Amino acid sequence: MNPSGGLFWHLHAWRQQRHWHGACADIAQWLATLPPPAKARDPQVRDSLVVIGASAGWMLSSPWLQGFAQVDTFDLDRWAGPLFRRRHGAALQASGTALACHTRDALADLDAVLSTHPQAVVLFDNVLGQVRFHCASTDEASQRIAKVTRRMRGRRWGSVHDAYSGPTQARRVGLPAPAMHRSVQARTGGSVAASAQRNTQASQPMGAGFDTFGQQLHAQGDWLDHLTEAVFPQGTLVHHIAWPYSARYCHWLQAGWINP
Ligand SMILES: C[S@@+](CC[C@H](N)C(=O)[O-])C[C@H]1O[C@@H](n2cnc3c(N)ncnc32)[C@H](O)[C@@H]1O
Repeated sequence: MNPSGGLFWHLHAWRQQRHWHGACADIAQWLATLPPPAKARDPQVRDSLVVIGASAGWMLSSPWLQGFAQVDTFDLDRWAGPLFRRRHGAALQASGTALACHTRDALADLDAVLSTHPQAVVLFDNVLGQVRFHCASTDEASQRIAKVTRRMRGRRWGSVHDAYSGPTQARRVGLPAPAMHRSVQARTGGSVAASAQRNTQASQPMGAGFDTFGQQLHAQGDWLDHLTEAVFPQGTLVHHIAWPYSARYCHWLQAGWINP
């Protein structure tokens, strides 16, 4: 049983598409802010892209993917590749973008994935916030996330991931989701171990930002910390996105690009 994907996820995503439209538009807007490579090069040369945790790309924008010469997707879920092709394949074919879908644990095999795609931009696509559901303890999850981000040093990469999630007041028809906003990543406090300790349970999230955004999200009760506080280095421009996962449950997504 895959705790962060699989058939239940696909069914839910398919059913919720209408309600996720705003979050997907925000993600598309953030994706488009991918900074150009630091070293100048021929503008005709298109990047290649690795997407980790791609699933069927339910929340990815086809027009953005079309800007790449090659897209390689990775997911644990064997349904992910065929469904990704179904959703984005025609658009990618139209833009002459090569598509390869891999069923693989790309976090465990990160070294191999990176060395096979040495020039690719890497997108962790709503996967780092799921690590805690694949680990026996929050300590282990925090260590695993820290290992991934250490390994990305020197690469051009980005991530969109859950920061927090939790119950909300019932979604009211016509109630607009809070607008995406941006902040600059401050220095994250404490070591990985200290961070994990703070988050042993579903907990009231900490952090000054939660008071305002949490209110806008109509947050109620305890929210879950997805242990992603230290993903982005200090100074990263972070986009904050409301994702109404279901009628009474919302995720707070954070997204950022790192350009070495
Ligand atoms: C929330 S879903 C991602 C949604 C996806 N980005 C989309 O737009 O539809 C998380 C996905 O990450 C995948 N996943 C979790 N751990 C993974 C790993 N170690 N390697 C590859 N995929 C992983 C799950 O199978 C699941 O499909």
